[in-house]
Amino acid sequence: MALVEVRNLTKVFDLAESSFGGRRAGEVRAVDDVSLDIYEGETLGLVGESGSGKSTLGRLILRLIEPTSGAVVFHGVDLLKANGSELRRLRRDMQIIFQDPFGSLDPRYRVEDVIAEPLILHQQIIEQKGVGESLGRDARRQRVRELLCAVGMDESAMSRFPHEFSGGQRQRIGIARALALRPKFIVADEPVSALDVSVGAQIVNLLQQLQRDFGLTYLFISHSMPVVRYLSTRIAVMYGGKIVEIGSTEQITAQPQHDYTRKLLAATPEMAAS
Ligand SMILES: Nc1ncnc2c1ncn2[C@@H]1O[C@H](COP(=O)(O)OP(=O)(O)OP(=O)(O)O)[C@@H](O)[C@H]1O
Ligand SMILES: [Mg+2]
Repeated sequence: MALVEVRNLTKVFDLAESSFGGRRAGEVRAVDDVSLDIYEGETLGLVGESGSGKSTLGRLILRLIEPTSGAVVFHGVDLLKANGSELRRLRRDMQIIFQDPFGSLDPRYRVEDVIAEPLILHQQIIEQKGVGESLGRDARRQRVRELLCAVGMDESAMSRFPHEFSGGQRQRIGIARALALRPKFIVADEPVSALDVSVGAQIVNLLQQLQRDFGLTYLFISHSMPVVRYLSTRIAVMYGGKIVEIGSTEQITAQPQHDYTRKLLAATPEMAAS
């Protein structure tokens, strides 16, 4: 059964008046009538060139941005029709990992607070509603320790600041934060694109390990065919806002149907990850 069902999803961005002579620049059809399923436990790789609409599609699926039209069904619930409390409950199960995990975070936060923040936000929801398990301060610290351990970091990291760590370590902290609420589904948007190949390979291997340990389902976004090929069960190829081809990793690599897929495959030698 599909964990995520995407149906005829479309996002059109209206571009503001152009500064050159006041002409309207028109609109961008960033995601154009996309339908696909993501199955429980799989990694669906989403590959395509810059500007093809990958990030927009990932954000639409998590309802971080509103679609122009179409539907997203998560666990049988229509995400776009969900009301406030339903949406908050669904959001616990869906997380995102970014290329730069700290781009949007306050640099004065210690690692402990960065990872605990989703737990605290969720706690407030629990308390407002008067239901569910309550997580005290000690239990929360313990959860942060476990999460750091799960991503291969030492608990001494808790009292330090994100900028004190390398890019690969920061990505591990970002992953620990994403895992804090025990999600089922993660959109990983270019999580290794800013890292050296060897460090990126370690993060890719960590994501695979976590998938086994926590039973995760991934939408893994990348412009790099070798990375996508290495860790995906299936691959979707995006071009100009559309999915031009989708199939098992074997199918896509051995018998690509689309010229653009062939081009992506030809441009990319084997990845050195192990
Ligand atoms: N908020 C926005 N407003 C206007 N246009 C946007 C917005 N976000 C994205 N776009 C446009 O939508 C198209 C798809 O962008 P998107 O970021 O989804 O591509 P991408 O495949 O993730 O690219 P990259 O590989 O560079 O991350 C691009 O033409 C982009 O300029
Ligand atoms: Mg992107």
